[in-house]
Amino acid sequence: MSTTKLHVLYFSATGTSRKIVRAIASGMGEVDRELDLTLLKDRQQSHRFTDQDVVVVGVPVYAGRVPVLLSNYFQQLQGQDTPVVLVVVYGNRDYDDALLELKDLFETNGFRGIAAGAFVGEHSYSSKVATARPDADDLETARAFGEEIRQKLAANEHGHLLEVKGNYPYKELVAMPPMAPETNALCTNCGLCAEHCPTEAIDFNDCRQVDASSCIRCCSCVKRCPLDAKSFQHERIVGITHYLVDHFSAIRKEPETFL
Ligand SMILES: Cc1cc2nc3c(=O)[nH]c(=O)nc-3n(C[C@H](O)[C@H](O)[C@H](O)COP(=O)(O)O)c2cc1C
Ligand code: SF4
Ligand code: SF4
Repeated sequence: MSTTKLHVLYFSATGTSRKIVRAIASGMGEVDRELDLTLLKDRQQSHRFTDQDVVVVGVPVYAGRVPVLLSNYFQQLQGQDTPVVLVVVYGNRDYDDALLELKDLFETNGFRGIAAGAFVGEHSYSSKVATARPDADDLETARAFGEEIRQKLAANEHGHLLEVKGNYPYKELVAMPPMAPETNALCTNCGLCAEHCPTEAIDFNDCRQVDASSCIRCCSCVKRCPLDAKSFQHERIVGITHYLVDHFSAIRKEPETFL
């Protein structure tokens, strides 16, 4: 890693993907640049990488896929035979085809997948599913995985093609009606949720006003509000959340890595 530069890229509305990519990178060496792509203002710029760079990219799984706003944005990243470590973080249900999709998105833009991983993070919709993950064990697995990647890079052992779990065609995108979180009377209009909304769907002047057509249901505002003033009341989200708690709160899925 001495002559190469290590770049960490992530989108992380509720912070779990960020923790995982940082842990993996900590096992790989010193990070030269961290690009947080969570906010709209940070997804305006294109970036180019060379074969002297190594990129670790991490995204959450949304409905078994890469979030659509990211698959669009990733077209603006261009590699030049750039080694990339591909990471998805999912909420203990399944990551379906997201890791394969992420790999394809990067490999068609000049990057070369050298390692990949699917890790678990507390579910955006409920703190009862994968509660407080990634935990210390997950982070240690991530760090140790980073060390393995560093050794692989140092040994120049990246001739073979990386294979990851996933199927073609990818899982069909789920069409959801436009919806937005509700705001209760506890809201003090402090602006925190608006500041962190990845799509600027929340009105900065009146945080009760949310543009349903821009909301991606990431739950950043719901989890971040110190007064628990925001929540999704839409029947589709309430139904999905019940299903997730019933089926995935009592089991523990473990990280999977591909080298
Ligand atoms: C719209 C949406 C769809 C999701 N779909 C899935 C899914 O298909 N499978 C799963 O296990 N978790 C799913 N999750 C949960 C997130 O992938 C998980 O909580 C992840 O840790 C969130 O990452 P972040 O903290 O970086 O935002 C979904 C979350 C959201 C907001
Ligand atoms: S973070 Fe909570 S209290 Fe602050 S503006 Fe948003 S909803 Fe209101
Ligand atoms: S308004 Fe929607 S997109 Fe914005 S933070 Fe809340 S859930 Fe996420």
